[in-house]
Amino acid sequence: MTSFTFATAGRISFGAGSRRELPGAVAGPGSRAFVCTGSDPTRHADLLAGLPDAATFAIRGEPTMDVVRAGAQAAREHGADVVVGLGGGAVLDAAKIIAALVTNGGDPLDYAEVIGAGRPLAVPCLPFVAVPTTAGTGSEVTANGVVTSTEHRVKVSLRSPSMLARVAIVDPELTLGCPPAVTAHAGLDALVQCIEPFVSPFANPLVDGFCREGIRRAASGLRRAYDDGSDLVARADVSLCSLLSGLALANGKLGAAHGIAGPLGGYIGAPHGAITASVMAAVCEFNLAHGDEHTRDRYAEVGELLTGNRDANALLDWWNETIAELGVEGLAALGLTEDGIEPVAEAAAKASSTKGNPVPVSPADFAAILRRSL
Ligand SMILES: NC(=O)c1ccc[n+]([C@@H]2O[C@H](COP(=O)([O-])OP(=O)(O)OC[C@H]3O[C@@H](n4cnc5c(N)ncnc54)[C@H](O)[C@@H]3O)[C@@H](O)[C@H]2O)c1
Repeated sequence: MTSFTFATAGRISFGAGSRRELPGAVAGPGSRAFVCTGSDPTRHADLLAGLPDAATFAIRGEPTMDVVRAGAQAAREHGADVVVGLGGGAVLDAAKIIAALVTNGGDPLDYAEVIGAGRPLAVPCLPFVAVPTTAGTGSEVTANGVVTSTEHRVKVSLRSPSMLARVAIVDPELTLGCPPAVTAHAGLDALVQCIEPFVSPFANPLVDGFCREGIRRAASGLRRAYDDGSDLVARADVSLCSLLSGLALANGKLGAAHGIAGPLGGYIGAPHGAITASVMAAVCEFNLAHGDEHTRDRYAEVGELLTGNRDANALLDWWNETIAELGVEGLAALGLTEDGIEPVAEAAAKASSTKGNPVPVSPADFAAILRRSL
């Protein structure tokens, strides 16, 4: 018998121009907004003008423990009662974690999985409004925030149902300014986030539906959005793929590509999507070689959704062509050397995403996948 639970943002608003709903979305839960942005808040001057009592906090790069500590302190000093994340996945995750720390107190390491105490977030987080400006992570509808520990050289999550956004506003127009490399890395990550839950033994009929539509949208939009960043229809396809991928991963599980991304991202500091895109083919080959009939059938269906040809090799061919066309170069170009393979492989075998993989993956298997992806 099928059984599953489903949780998501309180409200999702998708569409060109939907960003204009931000002031109303913020006014619902609070009056003193703390807005996390990317490194250049002036990029969103028009939107910020609609939030006159807001404080802004710029997140540069993927967030570290120190950045979220400083953000929580600044939000408390502002007397924030609602937190907005207006930026890429890095900004959304930082904002979520800050919203959690303001009400729960303590240090991010008290709540972080794997390297921290993993304590539950006992107090509801501040209300969080998510406005993604990249199309890739689906973080606007996930219940976790990823943060880098520079000390441990690893990226880990804080997780809680109360980290889900009160409102998620997904406006594809906000992604029009993304440069090609960001479009490629984020978009490929969204696609991996639709493929991994689909082949996972934890898939369920609801997640399957999100994944199928997300994969179709990536097939139709990703290369076009990369070739012509001003193509709003293609941008909307990739934004929808991203949103669907977040719904899928938050209500299903990921797999070995994301098992690698946390430790390797912390180790070499490369963009998250560049890593998942680089290792996806080797993970797929490993799962096809060691997986059961159901796993092979699922990969064949992904091939069909991407190419019309029900064959896992069609998926691999499409993938290899697409990452070459989108300029994804492999792990060596991202900075992985032989010294890093064993520690990253050990950590990947313990990562929470690895539990969703259709086939158990040992540290030696991960080392082989990493070498194959260099
Ligand atoms: N919480 C989750 O469920 C989840 C899922 C996947 C990934 N993540 C995390 O998300 C992060 C990656 O997010 P990402 O792929 O969105 O990249 P990102 O947030 O790191 O952004 C990449 C770059 O794009 C720039 N940028 C963002 N929007 C732009 C725009 N509209 N125009 C021009 N430049 C823009 C940013 O300033 C940055 O330089 C990683 O930290 C990853 O761990 C979280």
